[in-house]
Amino acid sequence: MDDLTPEQKSAVVNASKLLQSGHLVAIPTETVYGLAAPINNQDALKKIFLTKERPFFDPLIVHVCSTEEAKKYVSDWPLAAEVLSHHFWPGPLTIVLPKNNLISDLITSGLPSVGLRCPAHTLTLALIEDCKIPLAAPSANKFGKTSPTSADHVAEEFKNEDVSILDGGPCEVGIESTVLSLKPNPNSSIWSYSILRPGFISLKQIQEALTAHNVAAHHEPSISKQESPGHMKHHYMPKKPLVIIKDKQLSTDQIANIFNQKILDLPDSIEGVKIEKPKKNVLHLAELKLSSDPTLAARTLYSELRLLSENPNHDLIYYFLNTEQLQHDLWTSILERLTKAAILII
Ligand code: TXA
Ligand code: MG
Repeated sequence: MDDLTPEQKSAVVNASKLLQSGHLVAIPTETVYGLAAPINNQDALKKIFLTKERPFFDPLIVHVCSTEEAKKYVSDWPLAAEVLSHHFWPGPLTIVLPKNNLISDLITSGLPSVGLRCPAHTLTLALIEDCKIPLAAPSANKFGKTSPTSADHVAEEFKNEDVSILDGGPCEVGIESTVLSLKPNPNSSIWSYSILRPGFISLKQIQEALTAHNVAAHHEPSISKQESPGHMKHHYMPKKPLVIIKDKQLSTDQIANIFNQKILDLPDSIEGVKIEKPKKNVLHLAELKLSSDPTLAARTLYSELRLLSENPNHDLIYYFLNTEQLQHDLWTSILERLTKAAILII
């Protein structure tokens, strides 16, 4: 707390009191805002799912203020976790590890593992420290919708719900943390690791950190639905439909025509995520343009999607896919978001 201004200190203390009295508080992180509750308040944890309209099968990340705190909630802390937490925390890496009984099934959706992350935001680190208990928090958006990267986004998302906001300014990173699972192997002391969700930190960076510290670990590239229940076909969807265009030659009229035909075949929801289809044929298209610098593109992705969605002059957003971007790790994470946010890829 000592490095905070008096205003920041008072905002943190206020947020801490609200959390301790069972209210949900949206917290700033370097990635996106989270919708938080203390991990020992079952009613408040349930409220997170209900407020987000999130199914109970999708587990929550537990936010800690230090590596030492993370260790209290796992049944095992392998060398890989020690190295990666020291290398990347505070920062955009979530480490999934076998949980102990201080973590409820509500948080992990019945899974035997818990996702732990130490976020790089001074206000939220001070808040967790003040609460003296970690905070469970998914991204502060309705289930399946675009994640919030500013306090205004959260206010807009939950304007009809009882959610307080700790305003920590716009998020630096702009896309969610990389989720990495670490699993023990029954007949060996070597642990396996898999990326459950790509993010700002790449597989290559993770592997380099492990190699630099001589940590033997086995990479398992494929993951099962059971291991990653939050992996839906659609996610991050803006209020106006987004279409990804593979063919750069298509004109806006052609895009509109193809969309108006194909949309008729789509169901109203896919894997529980509502597909909001326009009531009439689309006419006015807006192009989503992102910086060619992937760090800037990630930072502005969600706010751009929100801005274009709010503009009453457009009824469809389109994005021209640049396949060269697939060579770059951070672009791959951005395109994963865009692909899931898109109603169609044509
Ligand atoms: O950057 C982030 O990670 C943000 C900020 C707020 O920390 N949080 C976030 O939470 O993106 P959420 O709930 O929107 O996404 C977390 C993802 C989900 O797909 C969930 O299924 C997965 O992490 N997850 C959480 N705990 C898990 C576990 N024990 N095993 C497997 N996957 C898990
Ligand atoms: Mg989310």
